[in-house]
Amino acid sequence: MINIYQMDFLEGAKMFKDNSVDLIFTSPPFKDEDVEGDYWNFYEKAFNEMCRIASKTVIIIHSATKMNEIIRRWPPKRTLIWGKGIIAPAYRYNPIFVYQKSDEYKVNKYIYTDTFGIAPIKNKDKIHKYQDPLHLYISVLKMFKDCNSVLDPFIGSGTTALAANELGLDCYGFEKDLESWKVCMQRLKETMEGVMLID
Ligand SMILES: C[S@@+](CC[C@H](N)C(=O)[O-])C[C@H]1O[C@@H](n2cnc3c(N)ncnc32)[C@H](O)[C@@H]1O
Repeated sequence: MINIYQMDFLEGAKMFKDNSVDLIFTSPPFKDEDVEGDYWNFYEKAFNEMCRIASKTVIIIHSATKMNEIIRRWPPKRTLIWGKGIIAPAYRYNPIFVYQKSDEYKVNKYIYTDTFGIAPIKNKDKIHKYQDPLHLYISVLKMFKDCNSVLDPFIGSGTTALAANELGLDCYGFEKDLESWKVCMQRLKETMEGVMLID
């Protein structure tokens, strides 16, 4: 089952009880100008909600530019690296922060590799400004065994939903921007059958 809501995650999070989804997997807005108000204030609220809803682990792909600040404020259990090869002009890697909800699900038991060398999606292949490679999402998600459901609070073009479908996981997603939500729904419709549409 895949449910993608066209709404602000901070509002939509209220629908989810504590520990109600096994895994949170996301790539949140990276840039100060992509959020309303103070970036760290926004991030803290979103992070707290993600940690509340997840029962096992929270996995966040973020930018190298904000990496040190995130590690200082919210130290992860482990940091994986998405290496992008030789590309210009951006940073050539993104950190992937892995948080452990409790000792009942020890993330170190599941992580069998820390680095992912996968080319980013570029130029004409991109249908969304921030679209990430499906192969990266499948590769990271499939390490975390015994998880049956995933929530992506900032789903963009729906890469997490496609990866969840591939791995047989239930998926919940939020996308605030209407145009991005339409891109996501179109992509899901073209790729899979039986998607449950909720907005
Ligand atoms: C980095 S992009 C995600 C890209 C995605 N992983 C993909 O592969 O397409 C972050 C997305 O979060 C959305 N967004 C920003 N603030 C939001 C909020 N408060 N609630 C829900 N979505 C939000 C943006 O519109 C953007 O599409």
